[in-house]
Amino acid sequence: MFSDAVAALRCPLCHRAVQLMERPQRTLVCPSGHLFDAAKQGYFNLLTGKGTVFEADTADMVAARHRFLEAGHYLPLTTAVAEEAARALPDHGAVVLDAGTGTGHYLQAVIEASGASAIGLDISKFALRRAARLNPQAVNLVWDIWRPLPVAENSVDVVMVVFAPRNPAEFGRVLRPGGKLIVVTPRPGHLAEIADRTSMLGIEEGKEERLVDSMKGHFTLTRTYGLDVPMELTGRQMGDLAYMGPAGHHLGQQGEVNEPSGSVATLAKFRISVFTVS
Ligand SMILES: C[S@@+](CC[C@H](N)C(=O)[O-])C[C@H]1O[C@@H](n2cnc3c(N)ncnc32)[C@H](O)[C@@H]1O
Ligand SMILES: [Zn+2]
Repeated sequence: MFSDAVAALRCPLCHRAVQLMERPQRTLVCPSGHLFDAAKQGYFNLLTGKGTVFEADTADMVAARHRFLEAGHYLPLTTAVAEEAARALPDHGAVVLDAGTGTGHYLQAVIEASGASAIGLDISKFALRRAARLNPQAVNLVWDIWRPLPVAENSVDVVMVVFAPRNPAEFGRVLRPGGKLIVVTPRPGHLAEIADRTSMLGIEEGKEERLVDSMKGHFTLTRTYGLDVPMELTGRQMGDLAYMGPAGHHLGQQGEVNEPSGSVATLAKFRISVFTVS
């Protein structure tokens, strides 16, 4: 429920609990009088007034991601994340936090599978416009994962991070004892055929070890496994794939990848890692 997610929030300025006011407009308000109005799409920008140097995903990058994900190319991953989260979430009063929620695609599947209350965070307001439309029952917040999260300690059952930055200390703080962190990362060889045709970066070896190392002191690895998803992609779909990721910042403008043979067979190689808060 929305109210459980709001109860987990803390004012980013004074760290006190916030309440949702519906009138005269939808606003999060704390006892010190700090106010955060909802954007017309329904998300809240808690970074207001604070400049950030981060280069957020653009509207076009978000549109490419939305098209690609909603076409179902990554459906086995979406299903796996939803099942993993549903397994880790309690039946009642569960709260899930999606760090770097993007268009809200994976969070939507988790909400559908679990019925949990949800908080989606992302630094891109363009991403949150989509996420707020896809998941109106979630609290969607513009926020920077590298800052202290505007979330109370011991208030969240699952943090999920799908191809987004990880802040282990903050994830550990907001999780309840026994809470789970679900991380999705690419494995070496991920989309190698597409990377060859676009300016997407390849995935380096050793990333898995670095992921586990970075969690030390905060989390223990409970389970990790690979998931391979074969795909056949057209030039347009390859264009979306290249543009929706980090390379999108440098590609200038989205487009189609010239593919004389019509389509290219490739393999998405994911890793799903489940950590338990120590
Ligand atoms: C590759 S996308 C993944 C989005 C989504 N999880 C998905 O898989 O569809 C990375 C997302 O992380 C967000 N992001 C990057 N750095 C961030 C930060 N410092 N704080 C919050 N969000 C961030 C981006 O805006 C983008 O939406
Ligand atoms: Zn406040």
